[in-house]
Amino acid sequence: MIAFNDKFKLGAANCCDKSLAHRAFILAAIADGESTLSNVSTLPYDVLVTVQALRELGAEITFDNNGCATVKPITRLPQKTVTLNCHGSGTTARLLAGLCAGLGVHALFVGDESLARRPMARVIQPLQKLGADIKLGANCLFECMGGELVGTNLTAEVNSAQVKSAVILAGLFAQGTTTYRERLATRNHTELMLKELGANVQTKENVVTVRKSRPHAFDYALPNDPSGVAYGVALALLTNTSAVFRSVLLNERRLGFYRVLQRANANIRFHNVRTVLGEKVGDVVVSPSALAPLFATEQDVCDGIDEIPLLAALSLSVCGVHKFCEVSELALKECDRIQAIKHIADVCGKRCDFDGRDLTISSDGTLPQGKHFRCFGDHRIAMCEAVLCIACGGGSVDADEDTFGVSYRNFLEDLHVQAPRYYLFGTNVTDSLSPTLMAHLAVNAKQCMCYYPSPLAENISDENLSEILHTHSGNVTMPFKVRAARLLGATVPSVNTVYDDGTKCCSTDGYGVVQSLKAHSIRFEGQPLWIVGAGGAAEACVAELTKYGCKMCVIDRTEANATRLKQKYRLFDHFDDPVGVLSFVPQCQFERNLSLPQSCRFVLVADYKGTSGLRIQAQKRKIDVVDGREMLYHQGAKSFSLWTGTPIQTDAAAFLKIKEHI
Ligand code: S3P
Repeated sequence: MIAFNDKFKLGAANCCDKSLAHRAFILAAIADGESTLSNVSTLPYDVLVTVQALRELGAEITFDNNGCATVKPITRLPQKTVTLNCHGSGTTARLLAGLCAGLGVHALFVGDESLARRPMARVIQPLQKLGADIKLGANCLFECMGGELVGTNLTAEVNSAQVKSAVILAGLFAQGTTTYRERLATRNHTELMLKELGANVQTKENVVTVRKSRPHAFDYALPNDPSGVAYGVALALLTNTSAVFRSVLLNERRLGFYRVLQRANANIRFHNVRTVLGEKVGDVVVSPSALAPLFATEQDVCDGIDEIPLLAALSLSVCGVHKFCEVSELALKECDRIQAIKHIADVCGKRCDFDGRDLTISSDGTLPQGKHFRCFGDHRIAMCEAVLCIACGGGSVDADEDTFGVSYRNFLEDLHVQAPRYYLFGTNVTDSLSPTLMAHLAVNAKQCMCYYPSPLAENISDENLSEILHTHSGNVTMPFKVRAARLLGATVPSVNTVYDDGTKCCSTDGYGVVQSLKAHSIRFEGQPLWIVGAGGAAEACVAELTKYGCKMCVIDRTEANATRLKQKYRLFDHFDDPVGVLSFVPQCQFERNLSLPQSCRFVLVADYKGTSGLRIQAQKRKIDVVDGREMLYHQGAKSFSLWTGTPIQTDAAAFLKIKEHI
């Protein structure tokens, strides 16, 4: 989760073009000598995936400390089957399908869940028509087994530069002539670059012709990505700011976003335009503009396919009806981006309709403040939402630490967004409510911060755990609370909060318990209580309630653990008539088997995930139940204050406001 406030600065663009970078590495890997690529220090993660796959195929690729890469081409093909892990990168999978078919290697293509959802038949079928032995797989995306390629005439069935590029790459190794005809022109980097590098590739109107040939080695400074710069341009327009972004790729087939905006009166100009390796490159200058409603034709959509969600997000700030034609391909990207756009419009309270082909958005031009967005694990959706959050003075996105880096590693740095990072360390943290809670606390307090669940293996060594805890701030949860206290040399028995970059720690669990009991006006001081569980949170609670003179006994599945706490805090032998029961165990049979004593007047159930037997019994008897969420809220607010130095008023009213969201 990342929470934004309204602070940003524009102008930096450290985002080498993702499409060009994939292609530059691939062509360098089959060139007739050693090539060097510069401006690659912030290579998008997707391109690193291509780099790794090319290494598997035999290319030698090294990076220096000055943002340069050297590529020694493939000289010996792998003799055994190679497995190419494409992670979430469709460009890697589809372009390398063409390359592997051409090279005649036996390769298994695999990827992550999002890639497994995306259509691969579109690239397999044309390659089969060229004679490639390639098929979709049951346990992989597809399998390439080489084949004798013979050039043929192909017509595009979908508007896809990736498919076209796969055919071109295969065509470089095929006997005879390969032609590929497109109905709509898609991005043409592969053919432009190959032509520049002396390969036998021609283009006429919408037809590319390829003959067997090899590109020359080259030295290339990769320009910045118009798709990445688009987020800065959108933020400038949303906030009436001027900005200049230098050395941006200005290929017409990538400027759909810019064209649509220019037609809607956006003041966007291109300066210092020059040609580098066949591609136009220049500076993008944006100035405050009063935008008219947006309209994107099918060609605009094709030329800005990755920026349609951003245009849609931007359109929410402009009064009128906005239309984006023929956008159905968006459903097949890293996530279903049509649904993602609907989500963004919905969160902002605007109407968005998709009729199977065109998308229409109606807006009154006002943007709401402090909204919370889901990004569906998609880098571009996350960046759109980040821009909206900043422009609206705050908001949050449920992005993971590496989300933006898939296409734009320096996204936050380039916007000068200063978001300190906090982590949640535990074994089972992926469905924790803490990120949502922190999002609300941060946005309400106008703080910019990241909060990332970071799962650790239960058997992590003391050495590694200590290193992590001493260098990060965040929360510690099960089962590391007691170990963390020992490794951090804490004066408290259990630690759930580490702050000031691992130099300070404490537990806010006990505070969370006491505050939530107080918020329910429960009299717990000096009362007999059962504590269920003997882990870190239970111990923190015992330590805190001891200060209030409570009479406690501990009930735990493991007798020895209960005895340890009993001796350490001089607790009581088991008694049958507690006034309250406070449970700190995850939901399990042991907890469900406990029967709530008649004397009990309140129950606190720290675990908010499962179905608690104690809670069910308490609800039946209509006695007060303090929900784990409430305790989570109070302890989380305390951790938040320790990290940020911002005090939070944690009263019952403040909890009620946040309650519906967590
Ligand atoms: C790309 C082409 C587009 C685009 C992707 C990169 C490329 O995909 O969405 O981010 O580099 O060729 P399609 O070819 O599937 O439209």
